[in-house]
Amino acid sequence: MPNKHQYSQALDHSVFRVISKAASNLKLESYVIGGFVRDYILQRGTAKDIDVVAVGSGIELAKEVSKLLPKNPKVSIFKNYGTAMLKADDIELEFVGARKESYEENSRNPAVEGGTLEDDQNRRDFTINAMAISLQGENFGTLLDPFNGIQDLKDKIIRTPLEPGITYSDDPLRMLRAIRFATQLNFKIEEKSFEAITENADRIKIISKERIVDELHKILASPKPSIGFSILNKTNLLPLILPELAALKGVDDIEGQRHKDNFWHTLEVVDNIAKNTDNVWLRWAALLHDVGKAPTKKFDKKVGWTFHGHEFVGSKMVYKLFRRLKMPLNEKMKFVQKMVFMSSRPIVIASDVTDSAVRRLIFDAGEHIDDLMTLCEADITTKNPHKFKKYHNNFKLVRDKIIEVEARDHVRNFEPPISGEEIMKVYSLKPSREIGIIKDAIKEAILDGTITNDYNEAYEFMLQKGKSLGLKINTP
Ligand code: CTP
Repeated sequence: MPNKHQYSQALDHSVFRVISKAASNLKLESYVIGGFVRDYILQRGTAKDIDVVAVGSGIELAKEVSKLLPKNPKVSIFKNYGTAMLKADDIELEFVGARKESYEENSRNPAVEGGTLEDDQNRRDFTINAMAISLQGENFGTLLDPFNGIQDLKDKIIRTPLEPGITYSDDPLRMLRAIRFATQLNFKIEEKSFEAITENADRIKIISKERIVDELHKILASPKPSIGFSILNKTNLLPLILPELAALKGVDDIEGQRHKDNFWHTLEVVDNIAKNTDNVWLRWAALLHDVGKAPTKKFDKKVGWTFHGHEFVGSKMVYKLFRRLKMPLNEKMKFVQKMVFMSSRPIVIASDVTDSAVRRLIFDAGEHIDDLMTLCEADITTKNPHKFKKYHNNFKLVRDKIIEVEARDHVRNFEPPISGEEIMKVYSLKPSREIGIIKDAIKEAILDGTITNDYNEAYEFMLQKGKSLGLKINTP
């Protein structure tokens, strides 16, 4: 780690000298604070978003900085928040005036009183986010760390500068931020904080869905997302944010027959998939792949626990969940729905890998076939090494077969070689039921392997099918 109090190396970008000059012109103090300092000390790479706090007006400082920079970049001012933003090269600078009161982003009462640097640090979320580096003349590069955040970084602890109850009620989103940082950095949340989060969990209800989802995305994008979901569970935030997942918890036992705990299973699947993909939507699919199991769970005396149709029910729940959390209802949502809906398909065919089953799988999954296989492989959480190996081998066979079938039959995203229009022409038909029947029959024949994906074969097949429907060919 760098020298204890001197961090001028962190400030080698020329923009910091410019801010320093601008602050001195305005006769005010300025500091770099927050994530930039934290990530620099953690050597997580240099952040491109830099927060600057001014003891005075952050907006005036931003304007002065812009004057001194080449090309005078545009300053965006957010009057309600008392903040200003500008871009210098690839760096995004956010300026804020030091405040005495709460640092609440969405404060309903933005007229907070100005304060000293320490006042401002007191009102920040965590000790590791409250460290500041001075931009003043001879103090340039000095670290100001009143809560010993540097020690917390070493000890891997998330701790609030003030009593946790105060910090979390200033902005209840911080409860989720604590969990998110614990997940991203693999830190522990200090006991007192943990208790305060558990006590105040209910207050998450006043936070906007967008901000909540932002944190969920970051938890999911972490190397081991289960850390976050397991803390969400322990602090009772889970049922308030994702009740569908909370409903998967628990094991029922009837007549000695048990099913697995689908919540903990899901977390294992999410961690597995995090090792194999950075696609956060595929990670969402892993998180939600079993949500349909809670509402479909039934006990059958003969076969034990069943979850019939959970994939279909689950895919419907994806839509409701996305809508409730104000997440996009676009192709991302459809992708997650599709993955959930198809999540058992490769498993079903893995024990008997036939060409036609694989052709149908490729046809239905289309461009997402690889993602689907990645999801299914992540779904293998058995602790029995023999079964683990067997299931993986089966999927390997499915993957090999996919490559073989696709190379031969090209069914991924295929359009049947005979169009509806052509069928109408051949039989002089107006749009009608028969056309759908013939088109479908051609598609099915190709997927079944009765004919290959070839124009001439499909044409012959169409003629036979037309005949059986009693249709007459249009002879000009
Ligand atoms: N902050 C806070 N309370 C919040 C949000 C932010 O006290 N609810 C303060 C923290 O000091 C934080 C800084 O504002 O470090 C910047 O916030 P943000 O850009 O959201 O987070 P970073 O810490 O920069 O981390 P990341 O970029 O990973 O979100």
